[in-house]
Amino acid sequence: MGPLVLQAPLAGVTDRTFRRLVRRWAGDTLLFTDMVAASRLEDDRSHRKLAGLGDDGGPVGVQLFDHRPSAMAEAARRAEDLGAAAIDINMGCPVPKVARRGGGSALLRDPELAARIVAAVAAAVTVPVSVKARLGWCEGSADPVRLALLLQNAGARRLTFHGRTRRQGYGGQADWAAIGAVKRAVTIPLIANGDIGTAADARRCLALSGADGVMVGRATLGAPWTVGRLQAQLDGHPDPGDPSPRTRLLLAREHLELLLQEHGAHGLLIARRHLGWALAGLPGTAALRATLLQTPEAATALDLLARAAADAEDGPQGSTAGQP
Ligand SMILES: Cc1cc2nc3c(=O)[nH]c(=O)nc-3n(C[C@H](O)[C@H](O)[C@H](O)COP(=O)(O)O)c2cc1C
Repeated sequence: MGPLVLQAPLAGVTDRTFRRLVRRWAGDTLLFTDMVAASRLEDDRSHRKLAGLGDDGGPVGVQLFDHRPSAMAEAARRAEDLGAAAIDINMGCPVPKVARRGGGSALLRDPELAARIVAAVAAAVTVPVSVKARLGWCEGSADPVRLALLLQNAGARRLTFHGRTRRQGYGGQADWAAIGAVKRAVTIPLIANGDIGTAADARRCLALSGADGVMVGRATLGAPWTVGRLQAQLDGHPDPGDPSPRTRLLLAREHLELLLQEHGAHGLLIARRHLGWALAGLPGTAALRATLLQTPEAATALDLLARAAADAEDGPQGSTAGQP
């Protein structure tokens, strides 16, 4: 086995339907829900993001955010009751709605509180507790090594660092070398995250950071096979490549079908962004994409995708290029 490749939690994307597709290529890898407000679990045990944990044939961790240790502990306990295989604590989300209330990336400014949260959660559950953080709040104040040591001492069993500060948002380049400084300081597994889309990226990041694995986010949008593909490559297997255009169109269609089964007619609205990403990577589908993003009829969308798939190449993408 090579270094671990993990699917990043992505709000509004990595729901149970998407995770089911990811698993098709990535087997029994640990997947995560996207972030869930601890307060939602306080009043509502059946929060929809926690429905069917473990239904997809592999372990699913629940990612929680809040700034109150006791609320986080209680939410973690409930998540464990509902089948969470792990609890991940979000300390990276820059969205003002989350950070303004002291959760997500705001915890980067208060490492002591961050550590108290980890300690409270670790004491509340038997499953492993991990943290996903950024390097710090802003360049001047960032001290990811100190933060990481506090989190480790508080009971975190694994850390993931996105190599940017909160202030950087998604600008510039993820600093994989800064993740390396954290790796050298801690004894628990450290996962590097940020700007990894290919096995070559992953290898460069691992060489620079010395991390135990990588986590892939935006590169998986519309491409749920990415984690499995990268894991195969890092395990030393031949590159399985991207699925053929036909398979990708059938997959997009299946994704829509699954969302319709789960959410009824609203599934079409949820599917639109996934379809947009899925088709953005396929040459010659601009007109289809524009129609799909507008049609109010799920049946039309399903039909258009089936027809496009029937007309599409079935070989590996690009394999017919240059043939007579
Ligand atoms: C649309 C979107 C939603 C995200 N939602 C979450 C989330 O719920 N929890 C979290 O820890 N990070 C979230 N992130 C951050 C990603 O997990 C990841 O750290 C970041 O995108 C950097 O990795 P990448 O360069 O591979 O995308 C989100 C990112 C994006 C683009």
